[in-house]
Amino acid sequence: MTSRQRWGTRVGLILAMAGNAVGLGNFLRFPVQAASNGGGAFMIPYFISFLLLGIPLMWVEWTIGRYGGTRGHGSTPGMFQALWEHPVAKYLGVIGVVGPLLIVVYYTYVESWTLAFSLFALAGKFPQPPEGAGVASVLAPYKKLFADFIGAGGSTWMRPSLWAYLFFLITLGLNVWVLSRGISRGIEALAKVAMPTLFLFAVLLAIRVLTLGHPVSPAYGPWEAMNFLWKPQLEKLGDWKIWLAAAGQIFFTLSVGMGAIHTYASYLKEKDDIALSGLATAATNEFAEVVLGASIAIPAAVAFFGLTAAQEIARSGAFSLGFFSMPAALTMMPLGRLFGFLWFGLLFFAGITSSVALSQPAVAFLEDELKWTRKRSAYTVGAFIFLSAHLPIFLSGALDELDFWLGTFGIVLFALVETVIFIWIFGADRAFQEMLKGADIQIPRFFYYVLKYVTPVMLMAIMLGWFATGWLDTIRKANTVIWITRGYILLVIVLGLFMIRRAFAKKEAS
Ligand code: PHE
Repeated sequence: MTSRQRWGTRVGLILAMAGNAVGLGNFLRFPVQAASNGGGAFMIPYFISFLLLGIPLMWVEWTIGRYGGTRGHGSTPGMFQALWEHPVAKYLGVIGVVGPLLIVVYYTYVESWTLAFSLFALAGKFPQPPEGAGVASVLAPYKKLFADFIGAGGSTWMRPSLWAYLFFLITLGLNVWVLSRGISRGIEALAKVAMPTLFLFAVLLAIRVLTLGHPVSPAYGPWEAMNFLWKPQLEKLGDWKIWLAAAGQIFFTLSVGMGAIHTYASYLKEKDDIALSGLATAATNEFAEVVLGASIAIPAAVAFFGLTAAQEIARSGAFSLGFFSMPAALTMMPLGRLFGFLWFGLLFFAGITSSVALSQPAVAFLEDELKWTRKRSAYTVGAFIFLSAHLPIFLSGALDELDFWLGTFGIVLFALVETVIFIWIFGADRAFQEMLKGADIQIPRFFYYVLKYVTPVMLMAIMLGWFATGWLDTIRKANTVIWITRGYILLVIVLGLFMIRRAFAKKEAS
């Protein structure tokens, strides 16, 4: 048991955890969610969800992870079994391995676009915008560049460019290489380089964007975006959809409800602090999100296209702000090539420190439960990602379908399962004691009650809210690609359950 890997230093651990949380979610997903859900109307539910769901779940997941890790388990099947001696516990843990593993399939693909685009920017490959045209025609050449790159357009098939496929292979190769080097020499070493670089790039970009003045018309400026985001709008607080979007963003951005935090925390020692480190991770992520993430893509779009158009761009698709509007804005600003490189480079660093976090639960499962070597585990997970990625690379709509089931639904379901197991079955008092072991700060008693009552009720309310706000329509929607994707998800879950059964049967026998 003492042979498990460990984090090298406390700073390294915090950087790795922050790297886990800070990702494409902070710089791509957050601006889209905030702008398309009314800016100031979004921020209040967002901060409330952070306080009542995000922070408590962060502590819970660190604690479950440390508890499981000191008993030799780096992934949730073994962790849940350690918390709850019931034959079903380990099978419930399947979501914490299969969930992140299926997310990383499309996450790595998106991450590879950012690597490609950072080099396109540097090489001056972005088109020039047409002179004096309206927003739609200014964006058109960038839209085309992106669509040609990933091969969008067909209703069933994507026709990705060779570049897209090549950059995916490079990106996946880098990920597998980091994973194969292990916790302190791989993941921690990566975070020590990537995190400071990412923060530097983000600060430079935020300063550049906020000092743009009025680049195209005296009517538009970046500060208008700040006003839009930061002026609270109380009249929309009754809107369910905004609450659901805000809670969903909190989960995604903090990496909670997934299994990834648990796995990183499993490499802690028994008396290592959780209270302060977990809070520091959450705070770093929020700084990267609401200070830096909020000061780049939205203000840049507002400065060049105006507030109304910026909101429309955000609503038109998950990648429009980051992949069409940003390149257009960057091309129109001085030193655009350099800043374009910084923007996509920032996304790439944010992405890779999260994609290794999404892959590590599966790697840890193979290492800890099947006793495979680290390298064999990393290569196997890499091969799985490679094969599975053909779904989002070649089938139009598979990416969104995977994101819906795993990046939205799965997260909340899993958070509910872990809260019930830890707080209700393992027991709130024991859970709190465990959490405070080795703590460097006191956790206010307030959170005991939040965890016991508020968090589970909110999680159930989110589920019900989804059904009430037209979710069934989303589920009923179906075409061939959607059914193939759903079939694949099911297949991987069944495979996961089967492997859990085999792993634990072997152990009981020995
Ligand atoms: N939090 C990451 C982001 O913001 C995504 C992620 C989710 C990473 C879950 C790991 C686990 O992009």
